[in-house]
Amino acid sequence: MDKKRKISIIGSTGSIGTQALEVIEKLQDKFEIIALAGGNNAELLKEQAEKFKPKFIYAQKDIKIDGTKSLKNLDEIAENQENDIILVACSGKIGLKPTLKAIENGIDIALANKETLVMAGDIVMKKAKENGVKIIPVDSEHCAIHQCIKDISQVEKLIITASGGPFLHKSIEEIKTATVKEALAHPRWNMGRKITVDSATLMNKGLEIIEAHHLFGMDYDDIEVVIHPQSIVHSAIEYKDGSVIAQLGLPSMHIPIQYAISYPERFEGIKSKSFSFSEIARLDFEKPDFEKFPTVKLAYKAGRMGGSATACLNAANEEAVFEFLDGKINLYQIYEITKEIFDNHKVIQNPTIEEIFEVDEKTRLQTKELIKKITQK
Ligand SMILES: NC(=O)c1ccc[n+]([C@@H]2O[C@H](COP(=O)([O-])OP(=O)(O)OC[C@H]3O[C@@H](n4cnc5c(N)ncnc54)[C@H](OP(=O)(O)O)[C@@H]3O)[C@@H](O)[C@H]2O)c1
Repeated sequence: MDKKRKISIIGSTGSIGTQALEVIEKLQDKFEIIALAGGNNAELLKEQAEKFKPKFIYAQKDIKIDGTKSLKNLDEIAENQENDIILVACSGKIGLKPTLKAIENGIDIALANKETLVMAGDIVMKKAKENGVKIIPVDSEHCAIHQCIKDISQVEKLIITASGGPFLHKSIEEIKTATVKEALAHPRWNMGRKITVDSATLMNKGLEIIEAHHLFGMDYDDIEVVIHPQSIVHSAIEYKDGSVIAQLGLPSMHIPIQYAISYPERFEGIKSKSFSFSEIARLDFEKPDFEKFPTVKLAYKAGRMGGSATACLNAANEEAVFEFLDGKINLYQIYEITKEIFDNHKVIQNPTIEEIFEVDEKTRLQTKELIKKITQK
């Protein structure tokens, strides 16, 4: 990377966004920030803008910073061809539109927002191929697989690891009565609220299976999940000859974020300490319990159905997670409600992007109505 790489961050005020800025601060001679975008946390965005001096900012609230132009929408970032790469680190469905726009403009994507691929993976990956755009995964599991793969045609299966979340060895009864605070207490990762709840129900792993299918073009039958509570092995691949290549590292999102925004180069960035097998001492693996965490099975089913099925799954789950965070339903009901909505969805094969957004909107309304009905009983 001779010249500075020009980067914009969508979701700079979130967990991934703030860690990305820590990486960039450490690698100031490697990156120049074009735009920062956040949602409601205008205070933090302002602080970031004053420190990193981007040319542009976007916030849902109107904020003014001297020397920085405020944009009206995220598309303005995605259309700016000054960008070499855009880190899409917002949560939920907001990421899809600007990602597609950036791809149309030939801008590479460092993708944290897994919902983009869950909603419209076929369209996004096809467009990226047509436009010669790289999609580099930030999600630690996919980033690990990206690092392991030399030739995808030689790969037999992908092995995605999962920490198991805070309820790994708890009973279904304990999961049902879990409080929001307990669900948000992830044993390994400090993340945004939506993904943390998804990690507690294991839906996060389900979404990651769909994400992996699109990123690496693997059949669902060749994507396996294994529980690995220490989160040291971030994922692995098995080659046809039986060789298994895994990527390891201490559980820190700085590493995959830095990999994705610097790819194909590697720099000495934020590496808190050197890796030591003897300090880690043991690595455990176990089969996931799909009875206790049926969300994973549901995600496999949606992925295999294809078309609009995964957009429906994503929208129903996301709305149910919001209602859980609002104290309206219990943790296990996220699955029950998502399943009921999903089972009634009429799948559209090869949907257009407009149809995907329609499914998304309709599913959200149906989910809210169902929750209202359940909670009023
Ligand atoms: N956190 C992790 O370790 C991790 C790991 C792997 C993958 N991911 C994925 O990365 C994505 C982000 O996760 P996160 O944990 O960083 O979430 P988060 O902490 O909740 O951050 C979400 C970000 O999106 C911004 N945002 C929300 N609405 C917006 C809008 N309308 N326009 C622009 N920005 C908007 C938020 O802004 P405000 O805060 O200002 O409202 C915030 O900056 C998710 O898709 C998640 O699945 C996260």
